[in-house]
Amino acid sequence: MRMSDKDVTILAIESSCDETAAAVIRNGRECLSSVISTQIALHTEFGGVVPEIASRKHIEKITPVVDEAIRMSGVDLKDMDAIAVTYGPGLVGSLLVGVAFAKSMAFALDKPLIGVHHIEGHIAANFLTHPELEPPFACLVVSGGHTHLVVVKDYGEYEILGRTRDDAAGEAFDKVARAIGLGYPGGPKIDKLCKTQGNPHAIAFPQAKVNGSEYDFSFSGIKSAVLNYINQAQMKGEEIDRADLAASFQHAVVSALVNRAVGASKEYGFKTLAMAGGVASNSYLRKMMDEECEKAGIKLYYPEPILCTDNAAMIGAAAYYEYIKGVRHGYDLNASPNLKLGER
Ligand code: KG4
Ligand code: ZN
Repeated sequence: MRMSDKDVTILAIESSCDETAAAVIRNGRECLSSVISTQIALHTEFGGVVPEIASRKHIEKITPVVDEAIRMSGVDLKDMDAIAVTYGPGLVGSLLVGVAFAKSMAFALDKPLIGVHHIEGHIAANFLTHPELEPPFACLVVSGGHTHLVVVKDYGEYEILGRTRDDAAGEAFDKVARAIGLGYPGGPKIDKLCKTQGNPHAIAFPQAKVNGSEYDFSFSGIKSAVLNYINQAQMKGEEIDRADLAASFQHAVVSALVNRAVGASKEYGFKTLAMAGGVASNSYLRKMMDEECEKAGIKLYYPEPILCTDNAAMIGAAAYYEYIKGVRHGYDLNASPNLKLGER
């Protein structure tokens, strides 16, 4: 691998939930390798992620995954400029595996250690897919644990315009999918079903308004409305059209996301909007957001689907901007399961 003296090459590790991942990223924008080992099949029979199983599996997978990422990148370990790792938010047992591994590597190789915020990583995934994208821009972050509307003022500088008051968007997808028997993980299953079936306007689910906060979200009302709909149909002995129900639910959630993201971009005068997180790979959200942004004259960015869900490439991208600012963590870096966006 040819490198110039100015190139910054970062080995990044991610283990915050149920994916063990490692990647090698050059200058925050170029992915030299990205390896993801998913545990989805293991957790499916429990209907969701079992934290204890997740951390045990990370321990088993982390060495081969990191080895594979280094091998595929063609970069010698001695030529890495830093070791980056997600240190929060996430499941504490899962985070600890990555953090301990990264600290040991940094110590053994005498390389700088950079702790990265998982959500900052999701946002930075856009820099890998779109080399021309630069702050400032608005960003809708929609994952299994988070729903935030933020302004990316500069690299690593965020202002939160809105957040969910209850469930995250991905969490709502997962709960509704479980209720209609689609299984885990719900988001991709609902997305797939509704690509070919289901009328998004079959059932009108409520669009929750959050008092006093125009850009906050609430999804528990939509989720409860779906569960009530199922209960009532069961009591009446009526058959449910799963595809109509899923498509109508998806329409309600996606409309709430699109209305607030586009509304805020217009109000604050942002001509650039990005999306990030697992739910940003939802095809209905991408389509509706594409259409509404085009009407409003807003340039829309989203990462390729494999970079929307958890991966380490995004952590390497975010770490680059920390690296050039001089951010370095000590060996006392710890997992921080409730780390807030913008918090260091
Ligand atoms: O970002 P992510 O991989 O992990 C977290 O940081 O939470 O997001 C996972 C979430 C899950 O709730 C999953 O159901 C949802 O993203 N998701 C989707 C899709 N793909 C993943 N939701 C809707 N449509 C999808 N295609
Ligand atoms: Zn994530």
